[in-house]
Amino acid sequence: MPEADLAAVAAEASAAGHTFGATSDPGQVASIIRVNQETLFDDLRHDAVHAEIMEWLRFSEREAVDRGDGLSAATMLIPGRILRFAMGHRGLWEAPVIGALIRAVYLRTMRGVTQVAWWSGPFATPADYVAAGRLFLKAWIHLTERGVSLHPFGTVITNPRSHARFVDLVDADESGGRMAWMLVRLGYAKEPPLAHRRPLEEMLA
Ligand SMILES: Cc1cc2nc3c(=O)[nH]c(=O)nc-3n(C[C@H](O)[C@H](O)[C@H](O)COP(=O)(O)O)c2cc1C
Repeated sequence: MPEADLAAVAAEASAAGHTFGATSDPGQVASIIRVNQETLFDDLRHDAVHAEIMEWLRFSEREAVDRGDGLSAATMLIPGRILRFAMGHRGLWEAPVIGALIRAVYLRTMRGVTQVAWWSGPFATPADYVAAGRLFLKAWIHLTERGVSLHPFGTVITNPRSHARFVDLVDADESGGRMAWMLVRLGYAKEPPLAHRRPLEEMLA
């Protein structure tokens, strides 16, 4: 991404008392992509997480359109049948050949990533969470207006082991009530598939 766009997001962050960091170092980016993949697979080993995610997955386009919510296979760039099979056979993720294949299908969706970015700052109280969320939304809108696509890696933040690895990799500042609270991949990409969503009026009803 152009320095000017990064600088604009960084300025917005620092005006709100937060720090925005980014890297396009190939080794660092590859390590973060790996941590994100391992996080996903690690989280889904937990039955409660798996059960909840299964509720939200939409394997076919029909289902995604009808429900107007959830995580559709199409938006994850994974064929619905492969996703349904992989989610229904978690034991196979550890198997030598098929496990590697399932990992490869997921990692294919990460091809071409050359830059990642993160925000850190006050994140100790509910008011902090809301302020951070607003800052994040503003940055997302700002970048979208400039043709930049952004994809959060939220689970790297919330999985404690992954969080520690990520903070170590980018040397994020987590001193004094500060936390690295969001990590994203970002850059120029083909227009991402649209997530079907219920209309706003229905959400507020
Ligand atoms: C706070 C937050 C955390 C997210 N964490 C993840 C994540 O861990 N992994 C992932 O693949 N997408 C994550 N996403 C991205 C969403 O899956 C989705 O791509 C994005 O919100 C845009 O589509 P939407 O219209 O469904 O919101 C996250 C989004 C938000 C707002």
